[in-house]
Amino acid sequence: MKKTLVKTGFNKNDIVSFGNMFLLANGRYGYRGTLEEYTKEQMVALNVLGLYDRYEDKWRESINLPNPLFFITSFNGEKQTVLTKEVVSHQVELNIYDATFSRETLFKNIVIKSERFLSSANKDLLVSKYVVKALNSGLVKIEFKLDLDNYDINGPHYKNRKVNDINGVQSFKGITNENKIITTYTKYVSDEDIKTYNNTYFVEKYLQKGDEICVFTYYLVNQTSASRVEELQKNVQQGYDKLLKEHKTSFNKKWDISRVLLGEPESQFELDYSIYHLLILEDDKSYRSVPARGLSGQTYKGAIFWDTETFILPFFTLTNPQFARNIIQYRINTLPGAKKKAQGFGYQGAFYAWESQDDGIEQCSQYNVTDPITGEPIRTYFDEKQIHISGDVALGISRYVYLSGDTSILSDGGYEVIHECARFYISRATLRNGQYHFDDVIGPDEYHERINDNAFTNYLAYKTIDLAIEYYDEYAQKLSNPINKKDFISFRNLIYLPKPYDNGLIEQFEHYFDLKDVYPHEVKAMARNDKEYLGGLAIDTKTIKQADVIALMVIVPDFGLMKYARENYKYYLPFTEHGSSLSSSMYSIVASRIDETDDAYQMFRKSSGIDLGTNQKMYAGGIYIGGTHPASNAGAYLSVVFGFAGLYLDGDQVKLNPHLPKQIKSIEFKFFYKKKLYKAVIKNNDYQLMEVTDHD
Ligand code: BGC
Repeated sequence: MKKTLVKTGFNKNDIVSFGNMFLLANGRYGYRGTLEEYTKEQMVALNVLGLYDRYEDKWRESINLPNPLFFITSFNGEKQTVLTKEVVSHQVELNIYDATFSRETLFKNIVIKSERFLSSANKDLLVSKYVVKALNSGLVKIEFKLDLDNYDINGPHYKNRKVNDINGVQSFKGITNENKIITTYTKYVSDEDIKTYNNTYFVEKYLQKGDEICVFTYYLVNQTSASRVEELQKNVQQGYDKLLKEHKTSFNKKWDISRVLLGEPESQFELDYSIYHLLILEDDKSYRSVPARGLSGQTYKGAIFWDTETFILPFFTLTNPQFARNIIQYRINTLPGAKKKAQGFGYQGAFYAWESQDDGIEQCSQYNVTDPITGEPIRTYFDEKQIHISGDVALGISRYVYLSGDTSILSDGGYEVIHECARFYISRATLRNGQYHFDDVIGPDEYHERINDNAFTNYLAYKTIDLAIEYYDEYAQKLSNPINKKDFISFRNLIYLPKPYDNGLIEQFEHYFDLKDVYPHEVKAMARNDKEYLGGLAIDTKTIKQADVIALMVIVPDFGLMKYARENYKYYLPFTEHGSSLSSSMYSIVASRIDETDDAYQMFRKSSGIDLGTNQKMYAGGIYIGGTHPASNAGAYLSVVFGFAGLYLDGDQVKLNPHLPKQIKSIEFKFFYKKKLYKAVIKNNDYQLMEVTDHD
């Protein structure tokens, strides 16, 4: 396995994208791939999962912690940093197998080497080693501190911060604007004498050529009310190497089930790298779900979108069903927020937040993008009109139940969620000419706002009601105020489902086919600025932001729409901008089904390579949206497993129907299905599926 992503040389323009690309995380915290001498200007961030805060009237977002890994070294009084000094050589490295980050920078007189990890064994622990070696004799001074000057998009988030020393451990206590308390403990350790002034520490020594100074950082975050200073002290005693070993053992294990072998080095690494970005979001003890930008920062407010149920959840259901269950539990826990949202708009049942945080209250602003030239906010309707979100959640639950075989989640609140989502759709529908329609909505393609009868939405609503009916007899009696089963049935039977026309095409929404035949490159050419939001420009054209009808075929396979895949694929592909990273995996899966294997491969590479480029889409209108893309990472996995390998799971049927692109000669992967572990091996035209019985 090629284990490392290595970049050599230093280029200021790459600082932000490298921060994402070299991200470390452990399902609870994320540490951006930045260098020790960086500050908030370079977006250093130690991001916390699921702890949100609002400052004044700004957007509520996940919080960042003060940075304990700020280090700066001087040689004979001159600061040695990549930002101000010429480097002889510079290299950063991310080991995706071990989840460790390291750097090595050669200046004229010294070499700086560092390594760090966010422990997978003790999720509250961040540990690092910072080493300076003299290449010429001279006075070396290393200053280091807990940098309290946080990077924030919508901060500051601490109204009160206290730093003090408890038995040689620096303790930080922050009280957020919402009165949440978070404590951290930092201990710096070196063989040299560590001195301190104004909360800054330093070691200073005249080094002979070849001599080294090493400083270790042990840092523990405490989200409980009891003190954990002693725990940190114990970790310090165990020492760096032992903690690193424990971390690696724990993280390496995650690969056992999740690794997919492709037999082609280039795409293999991209897929491994994508899976890395999912494994670092896994925490079997967390019910805080997975945000759309993972733990790479505060983009998208650290919120959870439909990305999680639709793309990320299937990956975890197949590779770590326990964590998948936790993701569902998050939606069960946030049901009150979803009910509140429905009520707020005058509906019943559960209307899940488009951008959901800890309490499920809608966080999507009515002005979610800005004009990059004037800075004026642009009115968007994602929160109010993207009603497919409730169906995404309901379907996510049923897919989890189906794949994992764990029906207990239904009696533990899962059925209630489905029922309430179904209730929402009933209250949201409009009866016209004897059929129920969903008017004034937005489908997955966000460029066409406030349209009627989006096929994706209508089918999903139908499916949601169907699920409420399917599980009704077993689970509805526990609910306090269930809808009558007959009412569900009669409503469902009257839902308007846009059917394929004679030419096989499904209209994305009412009157879509009447729009102008304007293609994405033409819409882009109309933009005044490369950060411009294309929504407004695309509105009366057929250009769509992302897979919509094509997503429908993949996500709701029950209606036999895949029969029309070829026609719809050919029709919609040229109009799709892929302006969302969620788009290409859907196209890849459908391309595999219709044997367009070259396309399937290209689309897969688009998903798998998303976080490896330095030219990602960083702005929507004037708003920074950079970060990692877990849904695209998961989409890459789904493109291989359900696309290339053609994994088919239906009741007792566990089958493969491979469509290998010419570049991929073999595929091998393991997956859980209904509590059993399977191994699939595809080689050329030969393939086998077997149950793995000897795993723990
Ligand atoms: C996409 C949404 C997605 C969101 C978060 C938007 O650009 O259009 O479908 O949920 O990003 O990834």
